[in-house]
Amino acid sequence: MAETKFTPRVFSGIQPSGDLHLGNYLGAIKRFVEMQDAGTHETVYCMVDLHAITVWQDPAKLRRSTRELCAGFIASGIDPEKSILINQSQVPEHAQLGWVFNCVARMGWMGRMTQWKDKAGKNAEAASLGLFAYPALMAADILVYHATHVPVGEDQKQHLELTRDIAAKFNHDFGVDFFPLTEPVIEGAATRVMSLRDGTKKMSKSDPADASRINMTDDADTIAKKIRKAKTDPDPLPDAADALEARPDARNLVNIYAALAGITPQAVLDQHAGSLFGHFKVALADLAVDKMAPIAGEMARLMDDPAEIDRILGRGAERAREITVPILEQAYDIVGMIRS
Ligand code: AMP
Ligand code: TRP
Repeated sequence: MAETKFTPRVFSGIQPSGDLHLGNYLGAIKRFVEMQDAGTHETVYCMVDLHAITVWQDPAKLRRSTRELCAGFIASGIDPEKSILINQSQVPEHAQLGWVFNCVARMGWMGRMTQWKDKAGKNAEAASLGLFAYPALMAADILVYHATHVPVGEDQKQHLELTRDIAAKFNHDFGVDFFPLTEPVIEGAATRVMSLRDGTKKMSKSDPADASRINMTDDADTIAKKIRKAKTDPDPLPDAADALEARPDARNLVNIYAALAGITPQAVLDQHAGSLFGHFKVALADLAVDKMAPIAGEMARLMDDPAEIDRILGRGAERAREITVPILEQAYDIVGMIRS
């Protein structure tokens, strides 16, 4: 398929289902800002509220988390003029194309998704049907924009492969060249930020220990304290990045430093080789406070004016629908729906 047929366009989404943390920032949002500022692609960023309700959400909290996520995007540098910033439910074509993809994707494909297996656990019978079908809606999020590139953290790789499978099956079944085979963009030192309490576990909003993560709303003191208490080992920092392979806690802190500073892990070691963690953590805490505390302050300021956030999202939805309405119409037409 000729890549050139499609406008270079980036789409990505985050679930408004709890507190944003450093993993979301480094693995996703910071990259979204870089892609926006590169100016090489149109950029569309989404609060995927329809995905969030695949597990129970308290309605008032969901509304608040959606606004807070929007504030997090803007405070991190997403400019609602340069990028299209939306919540998924205000652009109905996502769900409409999602239904078509429910009919393209196969049960077997969904059953193989590791996130489904993790989230449904042993009691899959009690999981919502939406949780099972979730990757088809995610494919629709992306393909209803004909997006060519999707920046995400490592944990979304399998869902993006499925998105390509859905696009390819649709194109094949209907004998068209309509949906692009979207490229995942999984790059940088922080595609998988680990827990501060256990370097073998992903930093996650679902971890009950708040000390395991830095929340994007944490103030300077809290950030510094969590880094001081982060788990490490007694050895000094090595001089080569390879030597961190067997030291997950040490590697995590070096990767976080690298991603925050915008340098490679090896460059961090060039500066800090031989340091003990007591010392390195002071430098890391300073850097993290410097980069993250202003974002928390700006988020709080934006959250004081929820009506302004809602206005931005309403405007984003209007702009988004200029793209999604024609693409959905063409998809319906290909499938054989009457449009009168
Ligand atoms: P979620 O919070 O699961 O909706 O994830 C939103 C985005 O953040 C996705 O692109 C994830 O891949 C990314 N992400 C979530 N947790 C991490 C993590 N610990 N490290 C890197 N990226 C992450
Ligand atoms: N599934 C993603 C997550 O849990 C969120 C998401 C939904 C998404 N739709 C998307 C990410 C489309 C990228 C593109 O993190």
